[in-house]
Amino acid sequence: MKARIAVHRDFKISDIDERLYSAFIEHMGRAIYSGIYEPGHPEADAQGFRKDVLKFVKDLKIPAIRYPGGNFVSAYRWEDSIGPRENRPVRLDLAWRSKESNQIGINEFADWAKQADIEMMLAVNLGSRGLEDARNFLEYVNFPGGTAWSDLRRSHVDNDGYGVKMWCLGNEMDGPWQIGHKVATEYGRLANETAKAFKGFDSTIETIVCGSSNDEMATYPEWEREVLEECYENVDYISLHKYFGNSSKDTLNYFGKVVETGRYIQTIAGTIDYVKAKKRAKNDVHICFDEWNVWYHIREDDRRRWKSWDWPEAPELLEETYNFEDALFVAGLLNEFIRRSDRVRIACIAQLVNVIAPIRAERNGPAWRQTIYHPYRFASIYGRGEALNVAVDVPTYDCHVANDVPYLDVAAVRNRDESILTFFVVNRHLTENAEVDFSMTGFTGAVLLEHHAMEGYDLNDTNGPDRPDHIIPKGGSGVGVEDGNLKGSIAPLSYHVLRVKID
Ligand code: AHR
Repeated sequence: MKARIAVHRDFKISDIDERLYSAFIEHMGRAIYSGIYEPGHPEADAQGFRKDVLKFVKDLKIPAIRYPGGNFVSAYRWEDSIGPRENRPVRLDLAWRSKESNQIGINEFADWAKQADIEMMLAVNLGSRGLEDARNFLEYVNFPGGTAWSDLRRSHVDNDGYGVKMWCLGNEMDGPWQIGHKVATEYGRLANETAKAFKGFDSTIETIVCGSSNDEMATYPEWEREVLEECYENVDYISLHKYFGNSSKDTLNYFGKVVETGRYIQTIAGTIDYVKAKKRAKNDVHICFDEWNVWYHIREDDRRRWKSWDWPEAPELLEETYNFEDALFVAGLLNEFIRRSDRVRIACIAQLVNVIAPIRAERNGPAWRQTIYHPYRFASIYGRGEALNVAVDVPTYDCHVANDVPYLDVAAVRNRDESILTFFVVNRHLTENAEVDFSMTGFTGAVLLEHHAMEGYDLNDTNGPDRPDHIIPKGGSGVGVEDGNLKGSIAPLSYHVLRVKID
């Protein structure tokens, strides 16, 4: 198939907020315990954090991390996780029917985040608790000293506070499975009062209110309208969540979910605009897509297991092994976030280690990178700067979830010093090469600097502890600069990162 792609140096979508490449980690399964933290492991440092896991995390250059949940946060008592470890209670985690030892709490996690060079984004419990505990937590975490909660922190750790700016007002409060689930107006009012209190404490704090748990919820998108009507002026972001899969074994339909997600974002953007207009508000609310990933391979098996198990501690849970098809899907989804970066400012891959994660850590064994690690890393390291408008003239297809899905998925980013243009390309076609012709209007002196490719694998191929680098990016070929434009051939079912130096 022929594919004509056009970018123009003056036509940009938006400056990309680097937090588009953030992550999420929850106290559940083996994400924290025997994920990032495993005292006694040969790779553990003096605090018990795994250095092998940390290295893979650091290579991703993650800007921010959402913590500590997820469903877990809706019955979390943060005070259980502070002070001397021997005094910390073991609690039942009602969300995942597990035991929480509280051996990692906010202070230990802050140490880990500092080592990983990642900004914390914290969620408060608006399920079983409310404003009072949320504001105490804020004071414990951020206030320098001289008050009861901040002095308590100072008695635990020697610092002036963590200066956490991003605060999530609960988690998935529209979900009937959530501890303390609420109806939209009830939640919207609580979120508003909490956000007001947080901004009263520090006007530079950014608040994130819960949108729908996904776009299949019966209350979507009314939920967003009702919630925003209660709290619009006091929030900065509304969160979206969505998990993906290919249970029907229909690859093209799976890839079409990228387009479906674009529609989801557009709908919420429209709802934001509607409420802003209705309230005659001046402030803008952006989208924080703070849980996204592939989650289907073992989802039903897992659900059967954990619903009836006997309160284990750090059990194997949601340990999805991703295949090559998932990597192509994730690459396309990240492209969609880049294309929607005018409205989506923050997005978090869910999660980071072991639990539906790009990094796996075997208990007492090696850490390894999943297939999806690689497109996530490329987007994170090369997808910073300005998102450019990309016009793509290429055949399209219709599928169950969307019509007019282009066979070639392209996003373009010009880096901050305007010296490099990066194209992220997925050929979704099952059998045909894409004969690509990129016209780069207004850019001169183009030289192809780097070409990374993931191609030639079976869609079901995976990595694993025994073959950690079976699927990795390699140097690509078949594309070059001709007469100032990029031209060449891109194999079916493949992913490419093309980095072009420009004057
Ligand atoms: O990431 C796993 C779970 O998915 C989170 O706890 C919850 O917020 C979502 O439903």
